[in-house]
Amino acid sequence: MLRYTAMIGLAAAIVFAALPAQAQGTVKVGALLPMTGPQQSTGVQIAAAIRLYAAQHGDTVAGRKIQVIVKDDGAVAEASRRLAQELIVNEKVDVLAGFGVTPTAFAVSPLATEAKIPQIVMAAGTSSVTERSPYVVRTSFTLAQSSVIMAEWALKNGIRKVVSMVSDFAPGIDSENFFKEAFLKGGGEISQFIRIPLTNPDFAPFLQRARDARPDAVFIFVPSGQGGIFVRQFLERGLDKAGIKIIGPGDVTDDDLLNAMGDSVIGTVTAHMYSAYHPSPLNKDYVAAMRKANNLRPNFMSVGGYDGMHLVYAALAKTQGKTGGDALVAAMKGMAWESPRGPIAIDPDTRDIVQNVYMRRVEKVEGELYNVEFETFPAVKDPGKAKR
Ligand code: DHB
Repeated sequence: MLRYTAMIGLAAAIVFAALPAQAQGTVKVGALLPMTGPQQSTGVQIAAAIRLYAAQHGDTVAGRKIQVIVKDDGAVAEASRRLAQELIVNEKVDVLAGFGVTPTAFAVSPLATEAKIPQIVMAAGTSSVTERSPYVVRTSFTLAQSSVIMAEWALKNGIRKVVSMVSDFAPGIDSENFFKEAFLKGGGEISQFIRIPLTNPDFAPFLQRARDARPDAVFIFVPSGQGGIFVRQFLERGLDKAGIKIIGPGDVTDDDLLNAMGDSVIGTVTAHMYSAYHPSPLNKDYVAAMRKANNLRPNFMSVGGYDGMHLVYAALAKTQGKTGGDALVAAMKGMAWESPRGPIAIDPDTRDIVQNVYMRRVEKVEGELYNVEFETFPAVKDPGKAKR
């Protein structure tokens, strides 16, 4: 009996020794997301997509169990920084993820650098986010990616005079600047540059002024969740009746809000990286699974979460379960795969996402409003970096 026990012990020791030293224990992913407050829809969408990915792909990679810990930062930079610190010190997380807005991504980057752990940015869209730490890898988008393409499309389609209206924080400033540069270069005219406060935005007085300027279109960037208010006020002030179009990055015609905007938005053209109507088999499955599991239509924020999870799983598989920011980020660089949005890759030089940008028009399909893609700009890198 004694001998038998010893033999089992020996066998167990051999199995143990055969595993790489690092590849033991749980890999912890700390996700900082706005689960409450004005940016709540972003947190809800991303958390739902993270859960779906884990349910579909299991909770183990390269022999290591994956545990995701979601913390609500309310999209407040200081809260995000404090919660990230707690996750690093108390939970000993191996990966930080989420970041519903740029200020929270900015606030946490120094901690990711200090702790040498990956910071997977699943939502924030300001170009400079990836430059704040060598451990940032982005699976969302940049405003520059869609705003430049929007400007070029508008010029080709008879839009010459525009009023620019953006939410007054970093991604809004990016969208204003990148749109402006491309639109002016192509001979367009921008008669007003309006910046709207991020919290409790009231577009109405600015829309009145915009209407009086008689532009062909209003270029608008609002963060996810605010498109409904903007469109309601746009219609109330009669800008559509005055023949003024809405153009911009697709944040405004967010899949989360689109159906509630009403038929007046039919025909609105935007540039963006994801539509719930993207016609691929993978996306059809994704939309059906998100509806079934969460009773929601996935929006562009959700795919940042879904693909961010894929990135973590695929990187861990590549390192055979080894964690640490240097190994994981090296594994992530250059990775390419198919997302529900289409083919995507991580630029090995910038750690930013390379993806298709689609021109889309709001249409009614089977009784629902969708952004229907009609033109594809393939493999777009962030123009905010290409210049440097
Ligand atoms: C950001 C937030 C958003 O909700 C959005 O739609 C785009 C960008 C940001 O904070 O970077």
